Amino acid sequence: MAVVFCVLSGMGATVFAAPDSARQAELLYLLKHDCGSCHGMTRKGGLGPPLLPESLSNRSQQLLLGTILDGRPGTPMPPWRGELSEQDAQWLIEAMRRGEGL
Ligand code: HEC
Repeated sequence: MAVVFCVLSGMGATVFAAPDSARQAELLYLLKHDCGSCHGMTRKGGLGPPLLPESLSNRSQQLLLGTILDGRPGTPMPPWRGELSEQDAQWLIEAMRRGEGL
């Protein structure tokens, strides 16, 4: 994967190195329990809006990535940059778009 990433990113493609399977399991746990405390364990919404595939379908990757990494100042949505790498956040967005773990 690392090799593929280097080759493709050298060509300017927007690919990212997916976290390994252990990290993916951690991220899904975080999504359910940490994000879920505001967005609902099944991501149907709560204090924060729903994060279901249909809720995210009209949101750009850049908007979602910025929201997760930097939070939304003035709202309860906190920044996760210390906790999540950009690759982690990209993978989480894909997982939410797929409805993974629902
Ligand atoms: C303390 C509560 C809280 C936690 C924890 C939290 N969020 Fe949020 N989140 C919010 C709120 C509130 C908003 C809406 C902000 C606004 O008004 O724009 C939001 C917005 C978002 C959005 C934008 C949704 C949209 O439709 O534009 C995404 C994506 C998101 N959160 C993902 C996450 C992820 C992923 C996590 C866990 C890593 C997380 N949030 C954890 C409260 C939270």
